[in-house]
Amino acid sequence: MARLAVFTSGNGSNFQVIAEKILKTKHTIPCMICDRKKAYSFERAKNLGINSYYVSYFEKTKESAEEEIIKIIEKEKVDIIALAGFMRLLSPMFVEKYKNRIVNIHPSLLPKYPGTHAIEKSYASDDRELGITVHYVDSGMDTGPVIRQESFIRNICEPIEEIEKKIHNLEYATYPEVIENLLDSCAGGNN
Ligand code: GAR
Repeated sequence: MARLAVFTSGNGSNFQVIAEKILKTKHTIPCMICDRKKAYSFERAKNLGINSYYVSYFEKTKESAEEEIIKIIEKEKVDIIALAGFMRLLSPMFVEKYKNRIVNIHPSLLPKYPGTHAIEKSYASDDRELGITVHYVDSGMDTGPVIRQESFIRNICEPIEEIEKKIHNLEYATYPEVIENLLDSCAGGNN
């Protein structure tokens, strides 16, 4: 049995599908951590019965916000951290502390279109192949070793709404599965 923390900043739809899958396994999700007080992910956590924590980055250094996060992670005995729409860069100190234990989902075929508005940037490009990336987190912006990529060939007449739907559906089909595999290998022989 391994313990997962999910970090969010907003809607939390990836958090929802991760929780729906992982809560049916031997693994647990002791907490969801969010840096935006009014994020919808809090509502989702409540409905899922998962503890949630608001960690403000307002008027403090990144390091002190991360110290708060570390206290939660340690208290909740977290093994793996999944960033799911968490729109902040973690410091080198934090990433080093949890090396190979933090993963992220990004809505483009990295290294193309890191950062914000990846779907809009993919849509505006001439690329025929669009997709998503799950990767380990380092202190760069959506860098870090790729774990898995999934893609589709776009129909050039498709509106952005359709592309967005396809990308999110790929995320929902891929990320929970990758996370479950990581939790399985982290739990090792202890299950
Ligand atoms: C997802 O599409 C995720 O890939 C993206 O934010 C969205 C969050 O949606 N993440 C990034 O762009 C990271 N650079 P959600 O809150 O509904 O899961």
